[in-house]
Amino acid sequence: MAKEIKTIGVLTSGGDAPGMNAAIRAVVRTAVSRGIKVKGIKKGYMGLLNEEIVDLIPKNVSDIIQRGGTILGTARCLEFKTAEGQRKGAEVCRKHGIDGMVVVGGDGSYRGAQALSRNGINTIGIPGTIDLDIACTDYTIGFDTAVNTAMEAIDRVKDTSSSHERCSIIEVMGRNAGYIALWCGIANGAEDILLPEKYDFNEQNIINNIIANRKKGKTHHIIINAEGIGHSTSMARRIEAATGIETRATILGYMQRGGRPTCKDRYYASIMGAYAVDILREGKTNRVVCYRNGQYTDLDIEEALNMKKNVDEYEFEVAHLLSV
Ligand code: ADP
Ligand code: F6P
Repeated sequence: MAKEIKTIGVLTSGGDAPGMNAAIRAVVRTAVSRGIKVKGIKKGYMGLLNEEIVDLIPKNVSDIIQRGGTILGTARCLEFKTAEGQRKGAEVCRKHGIDGMVVVGGDGSYRGAQALSRNGINTIGIPGTIDLDIACTDYTIGFDTAVNTAMEAIDRVKDTSSSHERCSIIEVMGRNAGYIALWCGIANGAEDILLPEKYDFNEQNIINNIIANRKKGKTHHIIINAEGIGHSTSMARRIEAATGIETRATILGYMQRGGRPTCKDRYYASIMGAYAVDILREGKTNRVVCYRNGQYTDLDIEEALNMKKNVDEYEFEVAHLLSV
């Protein structure tokens, strides 16, 4: 028989993502309906170390499912990367009676979850990142909202780009991962898509492509640049000089990370939040909740972190085929 969990803590960590509030709400409401108390930890692992801990009851999480950001706040905390910080974090949990923890965040946050687990606090991770770059799961909370926000913004830039017969470089988020760029590249019909995983930094190919498209009569040329490629503004200047075509850079930035979560983000976050509570009740620890092949499941954190995710070759090829 698994030791009965009496109090669950919940924290959000790393970059925020739309849908994190839906996950917090689901943790609180599922736990309370199962007779478990919930404590919210503010500002991620930093708030844990500083004991910024509040009681959460169902009414504290009403009217948040539709809100972007995270009501608990989030932070990056270097101290939690040290063995001493991790021991202290587990001690704080024990002091506040927290015997189970749910961490919503990306793979960095899972390392913290693993450390808590090693220090005796049953801990479960939930994938929360707009980047869709967690290999163990087909879905990460926040991606759908971010990619739709970016897509709508790019549509607008494309309108004005066509009117002025300009070339536009639009930079989307994703320091190490190009999923937002790839999805927008296909959904916005971009002429070029530059992903950190794929780009060979051969700008001459892009310049040739712009000139060839202009000869074919295209009035715009949209280049979607993932943040990890960087230098969108100087790239625009070089392209304008080489092609003679007016070129502008637009950096979408943090507007992609905020805003009302889509239905999909609210839905997956709700199920994953409930799932995390239920596997804590079964006595599980050091697991991450995943959605794989149409099913919710959970995996050992180490196993999950060792998995690799690559941009699908066929999807990337199709993006190019459709851009002619
Ligand atoms: P994400 O969770 O979105 O990947 P980060 O990589 O910034 O974001 O990680 C969020 C936080 O998780 C860090 O600020 C740190 O507190 C914690 N963390 C990251 N890596 C580790 C690690 N190796 N050990 C313990 N905690 C970590
Ligand atoms: O949350 C993921 C992400 O938005 C990445 O796409 C981006 O590279 C990074 O976070 C930026 O984080 P910050 O500027 O908040 O440190």
